[in-house]
Amino acid sequence: MTVGIDAMAIHAGKLRLDLAETFAPAMDESPEKYTEGLGLHASSFPDVHEDIVTMGANAAHQLMERKGLEPADIGRIDVATESAFDNSKPVSTYIAGCLEKVFEDDFHHANKGERKFACISGTQSLDDAYNWIRAGRNRGRSALVIATDTALYARGDAGEATQGAGAVAMLIGEDPDLVELSVEQGFGSADETDFLKPNQQFPSVDGKRSVQVYLARMREALEDYESVAGRVHPDDFRFGPFHTPFPGMVRKAAMLAYRHLTRDTEIEDELEPELGRQPHPDEFDDESAYHDAVREYMDALKGTDQYRAWYDRTIEPTLDIARHVGNWYTGSVHVARLSALRRAREDRLDAAGERLLVGSYGSGAQAEIHTETVQENWDEELAALDIDDQLEARRDISFEEYEAIHDAHNHAKDDEFEALTTPSGEFVRDGQGPMNERTYRYVE
Ligand code: HMG
Repeated sequence: MTVGIDAMAIHAGKLRLDLAETFAPAMDESPEKYTEGLGLHASSFPDVHEDIVTMGANAAHQLMERKGLEPADIGRIDVATESAFDNSKPVSTYIAGCLEKVFEDDFHHANKGERKFACISGTQSLDDAYNWIRAGRNRGRSALVIATDTALYARGDAGEATQGAGAVAMLIGEDPDLVELSVEQGFGSADETDFLKPNQQFPSVDGKRSVQVYLARMREALEDYESVAGRVHPDDFRFGPFHTPFPGMVRKAAMLAYRHLTRDTEIEDELEPELGRQPHPDEFDDESAYHDAVREYMDALKGTDQYRAWYDRTIEPTLDIARHVGNWYTGSVHVARLSALRRAREDRLDAAGERLLVGSYGSGAQAEIHTETVQENWDEELAALDIDDQLEARRDISFEEYEAIHDAHNHAKDDEFEALTTPSGEFVRDGQGPMNERTYRYVE
């Protein structure tokens, strides 16, 4: 039995903040810090009437309509988010409630839940759906996995540069049309306090440390994956979609991955005349000398034709969308997968049968590596997506509008704000009910 992702849809927050032209000057920073350093041009933001429920429901609605599905076809709805507003009632119940406004049938026999482990919970929800199907408990039905977040940081936090908002809906089923998931997985997991939200809306972040923790856990996950799947060679996979808090992060991870994957291969032999052999810890008297040697090797490796060609072919295409939307937390690695496949389509690549090495990550902290195999109908699935139209249709906001929108989504502020866009054919948030529940409606 093959199990994997049958179809995907996204919903991007309807506002767009230009980081180089609007945000950088207001912060008195150089635009190149964003476009070159972090690798970001713009962030998506939710308008006043959007939140994790509306974005998730809009993505799921589009997906179900496109695939001609009815609620009875769905046996599970799992929502992955780190922006939840309720410690008891899961976001999936709200999303199912929204969808029941537009479908005749209901989801009363679907198992609903919510997954939490920072950004990695989107991938963990894929796992849950995969296991449910492989266990034969799905009664022929598919699972809906929705990764939805408003990734906002406190005003003035360094993370403000990497914000974003959007949802990714994924249909998990048997004989999938998009990608098959591997049985093999690798994990790197440790108790870390690099990024957390202890009952607070905006995260406490140690940004610089979070970068190091990401790299350490990702390396462990790759080693763990290799312990079950065998050694991975850089040419074994066509694309490497990684969790992308900002593209500069993936640039660092790709560099480390390439060094690891080329060790003791013909590529290391080929590079030896230029760079020497890779440093090994047992060749050094102390740790800092070893680290200096590694840094020197990596600096030189970065400039080689071999690395540049591999990076441009395998990693760069995964970053196309992230550059224009920022961090979508739980959805981020799934946006990276879409981005790679979208580029494959643009380049008319015959991608069926190609493999993806997928690296997910969540602060706190855990990384997971698995592989995916692109399926025969991938091209048709990609053709049906409206990513470019959605990104193009976003309304550009000024810095003053950004400040108001940030306030509008700040739970500690209860001022009324005017929406900047006019909803059409979408779910919107329309208020608060008597038990403090959020209320929603569908706008034709
Ligand atoms: P910062 O202090 O704003 O930026 O923090 P910086 O000074 O470190 O500059 C960023 C990069 O731009 C640097 O590149 C600079 O050199 C470069 P690097 O040296 O690192 O390669 N730069 C320039 N380049 C060209 N021209 C210029 C220029 N100026 C600077 N003029 C930081 C950046 C990422 C720490 C901050 O934005 C932050 O705290 N972000 C939030 C945390 C984060 O995203 N961490 C990533 C790993 S953890 C993760 O991925 C999990 C997460 O998604 C949450 C979850 O799992 O739930 C966040």
